[in-house]
Amino acid sequence: MKISCRKKTALNSKKDAVLIPVYRNMRPLKVLTGKKIEDQINEMIASDYFSYEEKEFTGFFMEIGGKLKKIYLVTVPKDPADHRYYTELGGSFAKLLKKERITSFSILAFEDIYMEKRDCNFTKSFLDGFFFGQYSFDTFKSKQEKSYLFEEAEVITSFAKLKRFVDENAENWNSIFESVYLAKDLINTPPADMTPQIFAEKALSFADENLKVEVIDDMDVLEKDFPLVHAVGKGSTNLPKFLKIQYNGAPEVDKHVALVGKGVTFDSGGTNLKPTGSIEDMKTDMSGAATVLAVTKIAADTGMKINIKTYIPLVENIIGSCAYKPGDILTSKMGKTIEILNTDAEGRLILADALYEATKTDPELIIDVATLTGACVVALCSHCAGLFSNRKFLAKNMMDTSGAIGEDIWELPLLEAYQERVKSDIADLRNISKQKGEAGSTVAGLFLQEFVDNWPWIHLDIAGPAYLKEPHPVFGNHATGFGVRLLAEFLKNNYMTD
Ligand code: BES
Ligand code: MG
Ligand code: ZN
Repeated sequence: MKISCRKKTALNSKKDAVLIPVYRNMRPLKVLTGKKIEDQINEMIASDYFSYEEKEFTGFFMEIGGKLKKIYLVTVPKDPADHRYYTELGGSFAKLLKKERITSFSILAFEDIYMEKRDCNFTKSFLDGFFFGQYSFDTFKSKQEKSYLFEEAEVITSFAKLKRFVDENAENWNSIFESVYLAKDLINTPPADMTPQIFAEKALSFADENLKVEVIDDMDVLEKDFPLVHAVGKGSTNLPKFLKIQYNGAPEVDKHVALVGKGVTFDSGGTNLKPTGSIEDMKTDMSGAATVLAVTKIAADTGMKINIKTYIPLVENIIGSCAYKPGDILTSKMGKTIEILNTDAEGRLILADALYEATKTDPELIIDVATLTGACVVALCSHCAGLFSNRKFLAKNMMDTSGAIGEDIWELPLLEAYQERVKSDIADLRNISKQKGEAGSTVAGLFLQEFVDNWPWIHLDIAGPAYLKEPHPVFGNHATGFGVRLLAEFLKNNYMTD
């Protein structure tokens, strides 16, 4: 979608609709709207059709420049609210425009209504929500709805700073949401259409001189170099793969950030088969992989001055005569041996090899993203991801970004006292806890920690927010794209070279 910005009044808008935020006893709007629109707004506000109910859109038609245009009033709080408020508003406005099949609008910037000159992020948050609200996944509908393609959002502001902000960044915002949509599409796609092979091909399709993509799929090489990925993936005829993606946006420095994403394209639980009620959404078990691929693509598309190495183990965790079994003892890439006591705790195994691979090139930071444990959904419900880190400052920085963009995470502990719960009597480690039903996410985190060798590390368990059954005010339902903006913003704020 095109995003533009201009300093004229709404009266000149060439778009199909004009959105005007209002609150009680607001200062006169005519500088921004022109007198004609202001008069009609006041008339509408005085009528029975309008109420100061927040977040409700009141629409009416008005003739502007010989064309009938839809004006929408929306009530916002008198004092600026949290940015999330405007993101939610953007989400519902997108749905409203879609219903009315309106393909362009102008918005009077919230910054103008609030006279808030320092913070340019109200309108930006609204646009983020608008992007989210536009997404739909209809690849598999036999009768596609008549196509609706939103075209342009225009910001009207009298603040030069906001205009500059929009003009300079609009293109990047589009790139970011292209990648959010990419992640959502990959996650929503059924497992037969999103095998390790298909995921790898998708990643390869983005390769260019800026973004190097390597696919390791020789089974002998996998067995030797990524033995846990090989062990978990070998049960399926859709064979495992290991992706290495590299983006060098800051070639003058030799620092880099490593990203690791869990890529289980279907998690049946394996021999420890998941029951009905738990198995249906397991096509989404590659959400971490989709997230880190999308983030790496954002860095490349927006030319971020950062170096990133991304590692994606891809497997199908399935029942079969070649599948790994409870009781097996596997040797990881790092050399630690693992007693398998549950084939459904497969994510931590493939991540163990990927994390260890990531430690071998001196990363400044390793971030892994995974739909790792149902226990995390029990602890934090489905709108919030679990955050684990072996460095306090990293957890804090990630929490700050989370608060700023409205993707919720909460820190959970990696208590040393629980470390013995992943120790095995007959191998170095066991892949599930000795104590059933106790802090499953922490135990999984402690297992992963065994493979990061004390390198600076963040683990995000997105089992809850990656995929939603009930619609969320911003993300909607199904795949959310949760974590893509969060990580892109986190890297931008903390790891760019200038
Ligand atoms: N992919 C699941 C975790 C999951 C659960 C993701 C719900 C999304 C929604 C993971 O592989 C798994 O099965 N974990 C087990 C671990 C257990 C066997 C220790 C779980 O959470 O039950
Ligand atoms: Mg599992
Ligand atoms: Zn899984």
